Parts: sequence; structure tokens; C-alpha cells
Amino acid sequence: MNNIYLIGFMGSGKSAVCARLHELTGMERVEMDAILADQEKMSINDIFATKGETYFRDKETELITQLSFEGRKAVSCGGGAILRDENVRIMKESGRIILLSASPETIYERLKDFDDRPLLHGKMNVPYIAELMEKRRPRYEAAADYTVDVNGKSVDDICREILDLL
Ligand code: S3P
Repeated sequence: MNNIYLIGFMGSGKSAVCARLHELTGMERVEMDAILADQEKMSINDIFATKGETYFRDKETELITQLSFEGRKAVSCGGGAILRDENVRIMKESGRIILLSASPETIYERLKDFDDRPLLHGKMNVPYIAELMEKRRPRYEAAADYTVDVNGKSVDDICREILDLL
């Protein structure tokens, strides 16, 4: 099987779904942000603060390229991985792309007590999350092969839907 790429806004549940897909299917689990933090030996916050967003995005593209050669992986993508057309093209050529779709309220409830998302620093509120989500919506929707609404669903329900779709 080719890769499964989980995309969606920060806090949409990509990591939890990825971990459960690994348990259910045996596909290797890949957490993009964790790999990049490991490679750079610093947190995502520190990469953004010291090296800048463009550097981070370049590293994302390098990692997606590398993963595309490997296969049979469930990949939890960073929420901004769809911002570059090149990334989407590589993902489409090497697997299926599943969009996890959550409301701004759900995202806020999940992320409000965390400060590890640099793009939400000082802006952790529903209106800003809704604004950024709307800005990105066309990209998420154009990239997705399938969309799963995750509001109010358990991780198991979401995984079952994904496996049915595939
Ligand atoms: C980002 C999402 C984050 C992380 C970085 C940028 C984004 O990943 O890659 O903070 O641009 O949406 P998660 O979606 O796993 O939070």
C-alpha cells in the first residue's frame, strides 16, 4: 500500500489518528513535526523563532520527498504541509491524502492550554483560528482525496471511516 497522508488544521487529531492507524494496520507511523524537531535538535517553536518559517517549510518539503520514496507509512503531516503545491503534488503521487476537518471551536478547545504552535502565539482564540482556517480551506480541500469530519467522533470511529474509504 502507498502512504496515507493525514492533513488538516493544527489540533484536528492527525497524531492520534496516525497512532491508531499504526495499531490497526501495522503501517509505520510517521510524525513529521517530531522528525523535524529531532533532526534540528530543537522544538518547532525554536525552529520558527531562530531559523524562520521558510527554513521550516523547506525541511518539510525535504521530508515529504524522502517519505514519498518509502511507502507503507501513515504520515501525520504538519498543518501547513499543504501550503506548497510541490508538497501536495508529491503526496498525491505517492499515496492517498485524508483531510481531518474540525470546527474552530473544537480546535480551540483542544489547543487552548498548549503553547507549542508558533503560528497561534498570542492569537489563541476562536476568531483567529476561524480566520486562518478559512484562508487555508481551499488548499486543504484541493489537496484531499477524502475528507473526514472529526467533530464529536472518537479516534476509533475516524480510523474506521478512513479504512472504509480506502
Ligand atoms: C503548523 C502546524 C504544526 C507545525 C507548525 C506549523 C501549521 O503542526 O507543523 O507549528 O502551519 O499549521 P500540527 O498541525 O501537527 O500542529
